[in-house]
Order: sequence, then structure tokens, then C-alpha cells
Amino acid sequence: MLLSTAFVATALSYLASAAPVRRSLWTTQTCTGDSSGDIAMGADIPTVMYSYLTSSIKSEQYFTGSGNDSSINYKSLCTSQNDTSVIVVSEGASLTLNNVNLLKYGYTSDLNQASFYGVNAILNVANDSSLTAHHVNMTAHNGAAGIYSYGTGTVVTASHSSFYATGPVSHGLYASGNGTINATNFYCETYGYRSSCYSGDGPAGYLTVKDSEAFTYGHGSAVMYTLGQSYLENVHGYADLSPWTFMDGNQEIIATGSDLEGGYLAGVVLFSSGDYANCKMNATNSILRVHGSNAAAIAVGGTGATIGLESVIIQSESGLLLASNTSTIPQSFLEWSSPEDAGKDIDPAGALVTITKSIINGDIVAINGSTIDWNLQEHSAWTGAAVLDNIVATGAIGVYLDATSSWTLTADATLQNFTVANNELINIESNGFSIYYNSSAAANSWLNGATKALSGGGSLAPMS
Ligand SMILES: *[C@@H]1O[C@H](CO)[C@@H](O)[C@H](O)[C@H]1NC(C)=O
Ligand SMILES: *[C@@H]1O[C@H](CO)[C@@H](O)[C@H](O)[C@H]1NC(C)=O
Ligand SMILES: *[C@@H]1O[C@H](CO)[C@@H](O)[C@H](O)[C@H]1NC(C)=O
Ligand SMILES: *[C@@H]1O[C@H](CO)[C@@H](O)[C@H](O)[C@H]1NC(C)=O
Ligand SMILES: *[C@@H]1O[C@H](CO)[C@@H](O)[C@H](O)[C@H]1NC(C)=O
Ligand SMILES: *[C@@H]1O[C@H](CO)[C@@H](O)[C@H](O)[C@H]1NC(C)=O
Ligand SMILES: *[C@@H]1O[C@H](CO)[C@@H](O)[C@H](O)[C@H]1NC(C)=O
Ligand SMILES: *[C@@H]1O[C@H](CO)[C@@H](O)[C@H](O)[C@H]1NC(C)=O
Ligand SMILES: *[C@@H]1O[C@H](CO)[C@@H](O)[C@H](O)[C@H]1NC(C)=O
Ligand SMILES: *[C@@H]1O[C@H](CO)[C@@H](O)[C@H](O)[C@H]1NC(C)=O
Ligand SMILES: *[C@@H]1O[C@H](CO)[C@@H](O)[C@H](O)[C@H]1NC(C)=O
Repeated sequence: MLLSTAFVATALSYLASAAPVRRSLWTTQTCTGDSSGDIAMGADIPTVMYSYLTSSIKSEQYFTGSGNDSSINYKSLCTSQNDTSVIVVSEGASLTLNNVNLLKYGYTSDLNQASFYGVNAILNVANDSSLTAHHVNMTAHNGAAGIYSYGTGTVVTASHSSFYATGPVSHGLYASGNGTINATNFYCETYGYRSSCYSGDGPAGYLTVKDSEAFTYGHGSAVMYTLGQSYLENVHGYADLSPWTFMDGNQEIIATGSDLEGGYLAGVVLFSSGDYANCKMNATNSILRVHGSNAAAIAVGGTGATIGLESVIIQSESGLLLASNTSTIPQSFLEWSSPEDAGKDIDPAGALVTITKSIINGDIVAINGSTIDWNLQEHSAWTGAAVLDNIVATGAIGVYLDATSSWTLTADATLQNFTVANNELINIESNGFSIYYNSSAAANSWLNGATKALSGGGSLAPMS
């Protein structure tokens, strides 16, 4: 697999601050392998799941034991073996890499072992160990993670480094088992299925990524797959066939100063593969984009979600900002599942969204019993429709405006709760549409069942 010229050019610009290198000082190991067809490879999800490591970890180089404080400089290292890492750092060891190229061919024979213990990752840093990587280029074929950080106390710091992967399930920076990864100036490009540039895994991974770029081209391949806590600052991320983030369960993502785009299913997918959870998302000073004719900028399925959007721009090709739905995402990451498809009960979703200092256009839709609370604050202006999409159950939407925020309607709306600062309707532009409210709801008691005229010809009236 040849690296694309665009990748080389951008990777070079990331590495531009490297000290001049005298080629003669590099020690180069060579490996051969076959990467033909690996971009199209699927992922074999094992049917038997072991909650322990089933065989000992294999690696070309091993650094282990506390007090084992080593470094590698100006070397190219590789492996062509399956289920084998290039470097493992474990049991309290500490390793520093400076100007190192790492190449890996070789498959993983058990995806769960790769996901939960880092088997087959290029770099596996585990069990209270640490890695500092500067100017490290990683290339993975056939399906392998880049840097895997595992276990409480394990910390990886990476800068001016890159990851390029063609096979499936190849996450660039992958923190699991409470491991931490902090990266800056990290360039990532993945082509395979389920290959997120950054990913957490059970029970939690802690990822902080700054001043970086991430591009993914496969299905199920997010910029950041959040399982644990994710923090993105000044990240340009683009996911071609995936949301830019998937979040499963009680997780948290914060993005600031970033430009993030996804497509397929939604721009952001917040769901729960287990019970109803409460996840958190906050985007500040960022641009959130979504492509795809049915994709919402943010979709919440079968979970509670508290979402804060401050000084954001949202660009949605479909015109959908938010969908709150009684649905989940199966392990294929290719579709939404209904309770019947998933073979289990799924709770309606509850999305609590607070928008501050933002001008946003587009629709919100509460589907099949799900709810949305939509709060506009601090000079926010929303133009769009609040839509109830009933399949079996009736959902509910609440809209709240402070005195500095406005709503321009693009369709009639039926609201469970509707409150405005000072009980004044001056910041509503109806465009001839009406708002029908539930006069039995406590939040609407200020209206006393009355019908009021709205600017633009519509009215605010009790629902029949
Ligand atoms: C890192 O990868 C790029 C792209 O292949 C290459 O041009 C550059 O020389 C590599 N860096 C080092 C330090 O070898
Ligand atoms: C680090 O661990 C490796 C593998 O156990 C060993 O070969 C090496 O000698 C150790 N280095 C130090 C400095 O302890
Ligand atoms: C690695 O696994 C692949 C796919 O199972 C297999 O075709 C190949 O022979 C294996 N390579 C080695 C070196 O064992
Ligand atoms: C981490 O610790 C577990 C539990 O002791 C062990 O099974 C595993 O081999 C260790 N991982 C590495 C990479 O050494
Ligand atoms: C992760 O943290 C939990 C809670 O503290 C702990 O029970 C678990 O052993 C940790 N896992 C690892 C692999 O360190
Ligand atoms: C990693 O980033 C987190 C969050 O910014 C920070 O609290 C932590 O100190 C950083 N760790 C290292 C080793 O840089
Ligand atoms: C989002 O994060 C910013 C920065 O941390 C904070 O100021 C803001 O209050 C948060 N917004 C919400 C709605 O949580
Ligand atoms: C709508 O919700 C009901 C009740 O939970 C569920 O049985 C049905 O599958 C849902 N329909 C869809 C299309 O999700
Ligand atoms: C809502 O979820 C159902 C499955 O439960 C799915 O078929 C439908 O496409 C979802 N709607 C949206 C707008 O995401
Ligand atoms: C309406 O307001 C009540 C409390 O005032 C709250 O419990 C409920 O979640 C709100 N529902 C919606 C859809 O806004
Ligand atoms: C109106 O609000 C009341 C009180 O919350 C609730 O019981 C009822 O189901 C709501 N009606 C509709 C049509 O949603």
C-alpha cells in the first residue's frame, strides 16, 4: 500500500519541526506483508467473549518492570506476525520514542482480545506503564491499533506523530481499562471498517487530543469513539461514513475550538447498548457539520443526554439538528435498531440541550415517545421546526427562551412545555405558524389556557 501524496505532504508538515536527521544514524528493520484488499475487510466479531487475556502478549520488543526506563531513537521497527505487537511496555516500565517509524502487517485472530487487552496493537502500553512518543510514524495493515494504553495508571503522551491504517478495527489512539492518552499534533488517516482515529474502551479510556487532524473513510469509523472521557481541542476531524463521535452509555465528550464533521446515521450518535444512561456532550467555539440526506447533526437513541452547545455553528445537509429516538446501534455500527430488531426493550431517549451564544437553523424531532428539552440562552437565535414523529408512542418537546434569545418558526409546533422569559412573546417570529401547548402541563400554567397572537400572524393556543 503506497501512502497517498496528500498524506505524505501533511505528515511531513507535522514533522517539519523535527531536528534535521542524518539518515546514516537510522537503524532500519524491514518487514514484508500483503495489504491487498484490507480496506474492504469486515470485522469478525467473536461469538465467545473472554473477560481475560487468553494467551500471553507477543511482541518484537518488550520493555517490562518498574525501573525499566528505556528509549529508542532514530529507528524503523516492524513486524509481519499476526497477534503480535512491535513494542510492548508493561508492568511499570517507561519508554521514550524519538524519531521512530513503526510498521505492522498481521491480523488479529480475536477482535475482543485486541479491543480489551491490546493484542496486535503496534504499541501496547499496559499495567501502570508510560510511553512518551515524539515524531513517531505508525503504519498498520490488515487490522491493528496504533498506540494502545491499558490499565489504571498507564499514561501515553504523543506529539508530532502520525497513524496511517488500511485494515479494519484499526484505532489510532486507543485507551481502555482506564488508560490515558494525551496527544498533540497527531495526524491520523484510516481507511478500514470500525477504525476510529481516537477511541476509548471498557470500562473507560481517557483521551485528550489537541492541535490535531483526523480523517476516517470506513463505516463505523469515528473521529472519536468515546467510551470514558474525551477532550478535543483545536481538532479538525472528518468521518466520511460514520458519525464523528459515537458514545455508548454514561460517557462524556468535550470539544472546543474544533471543526468536526460526520455523516451516515448522524453527525454525532449518543446511544446506549445497555440500560438507559446519562451521557454528556459539550461543544464550544466549534463547527459541527453533518453530511447525508437523512442525518441529524446530533442523534440520541435510547439514553439520556445532556448537551451543551456554546458559540457553535451547525451545518446540516438534511436540515435536521437533533433527533431523539427509541433506538439503539448494533455492533455493526451500520444502522439504527428498533426494540424489535435489537430483541430487547429500549427506553425512549431524553435529550436536554442548552444552546448559548449561537445562531442555528434546522429542525428538532422527537420520535416514538422520546423527548427533547430545548433551551435557548445568551443571545441565541433558532430558526426551525419542533416536530413530533409518533410511531407507537407520543413524544414530547419543551422549548425555553431567555430574554435575549429568539425562535423563528418554520412549521406548526406542539409543545409539552413552553416558557419564555418575563412571559413575553416578543422574541417569537411565527411566519404564520402556530404553537399548540399542553394546558395541563405545570410548565404552561403561566398561559392559563389562553390563546395569544404571535408576531407574523400565527398564534399560541392550547392543543385540542
Ligand atoms: C513519517 O512518514 C512520512 C510519510 O511517509 C515520511 O515522509 C517521513 O519521512 C516519516 N518520518 C520519519 C521520521 O521517518
Ligand atoms: C527492560 O525490560 C526488558 C524485557 O524484560 C529487558 O530485556 C531489559 O533489559 C530491561 N531494561 C532495563 C533497563 O531494565
Ligand atoms: C495471519 O492471519 C492470516 C488471516 O488469518 C493468514 O492468512 C496468515 O497466513 C497469517 N500469517 C501468519 C504469519 O501466520
Ligand atoms: C497486564 O496485566 C494482566 C494481569 O496481570 C496480564 O494478564 C497482562 O499480560 C498484562 N499485560 C501486558 C501487556 O503485559
Ligand atoms: C479500572 O477502574 C476500575 C474502577 O476503579 C477498577 O475496578 C478496574 O480494575 C480498573 N481496570 C484496570 C484494567 O485497571
Ligand atoms: C493529560 O491530559 C489531562 C487533561 O488535560 C491532564 O489532566 C493530565 O495531566 C495530562 N497528563 C499528562 C501526563 O500530560
Ligand atoms: C460547555 O463548556 C463551556 C466551557 O467549559 C462552559 O463554559 C459551558 O458552561 C458549558 N456549557 C454547558 C451548557 O454545559
Ligand atoms: C416504537 O416504540 C415501540 C414501543 O417501545 C416499539 O415497540 C417500536 O419498535 C418502536 N418503533 C420503532 C420504529 O422504533
Ligand atoms: C428511529 O429509530 C428507528 C428504529 O427504532 C429507525 O428505524 C429510524 O430510522 C430512526 N429515525 C431517525 C430519524 O433516526
Ligand atoms: C416539562 O417540564 C417538566 C417539569 O416542569 C419536566 O419534568 C419534563 O421533563 C418537561 N418535559 C419536556 C418534554 O420538556
Ligand atoms: C399533557 O400534560 C399532562 C401532564 O403532564 C400529561 O399527563 C398528558 O399526557 C399531556 N398530554 C399530551 C397530549 O401530551
